[in-house]
Amino acid sequence: MKGLIVKNEKINEKYYNLEIDCAKFALQAKVGQFLMIKPTLQDYVTDPLLRRPLGVADVQGTRFRLIYMVVGKGTKLLSECGAGNEIEFSKPLGNGFKLEKNKNIALAAGGIGIAPIFWLAKEMRSNGCKVTLFYGGRSVNDIVLSSELSNNCDELVITTNDGTLGTKGLVTEPMKEGLNSFDKVFACGPKPMMKAVSELAVSKDVACDVSLDERMACGLGACLGCLIYVKEGNETVQKRCCVEGPVFDGSTIIWD
Ligand SMILES: Cc1cc2nc3c(=O)[nH]c(=O)nc-3n(C[C@H](O)[C@H](O)[C@H](O)COP(=O)(O)OP(=O)(O)OC[C@H]3O[C@@H](n4cnc5c(N)ncnc54)[C@H](O)[C@@H]3O)c2cc1C
Ligand code: FES
Repeated sequence: MKGLIVKNEKINEKYYNLEIDCAKFALQAKVGQFLMIKPTLQDYVTDPLLRRPLGVADVQGTRFRLIYMVVGKGTKLLSECGAGNEIEFSKPLGNGFKLEKNKNIALAAGGIGIAPIFWLAKEMRSNGCKVTLFYGGRSVNDIVLSSELSNNCDELVITTNDGTLGTKGLVTEPMKEGLNSFDKVFACGPKPMMKAVSELAVSKDVACDVSLDERMACGLGACLGCLIYVKEGNETVQKRCCVEGPVFDGSTIIWD
């Protein structure tokens, strides 16, 4: 697919907000899905050869939004793609989150894991859920869009490792108390954080779905580069994160 870049703005030193107009994509996308985006505007590029996976952070009308962190060559090049240009990307991929109705929901986001959680908070809210968002980052610069977020959830609890915003400590700390009052938890962030959230939810007997950011080459189920292991009954089975995921029941994942 192709779409027109409407905005590609720096949020802060690390994070960008990219808005693309493409009615076909916006119509098809479901919350929790991702795309594989070509991170340059040039027709023929061999470096980077592969498209990059990014979670869909919101859809409004014919436009959709991506929130990304510049970490390497692909995301650096993407940050240089200006508004008014056409950019190429895949159709919406992956299974997405299963939405709940009229439930008490805890969302946990770590760093750039906020991207799919942003849209999830909005959708859960419009489905009548009470949404509490636990949002953690290393530092103040890892917490973005907090005013938009507070409008889209009932409670926003911020933590930073260095205490530069919100409560000092890990995002799991404030979740420990009262987690069993929630009907379900959804998480996205670094693997150790999702593992901790998932284990905490299991210990409190609360269901927890996690969206995994495994490294992906094709995004289409062909290269087997994104395999993870999950428990199915007494068996351990492999799953392709790009096709069977990226959202999995956290209690089934073999994390190590
Ligand atoms: C389903 C899915 C959704 C994602 N959604 C988002 C999103 O919404 N916003 C966002 O900013 N990022 C997201 N990511 C991660 C993003 O795809 C990578 O950061 C990006 O591909 C890095 O490309 P690069 O060329 O800039 O960096 P590279 O040069 O490829 O790598 C730079 C550094 O980043 C590390 N890295 C690359 N990919 C990943 C990854 N998947 N997980 C952890 N570390 C990685 C590398 O090990 C290396 O240290 C998502 C990944 C997946 C699989
Ligand atoms: S990224 Fe190729 S199979 Fe998942």
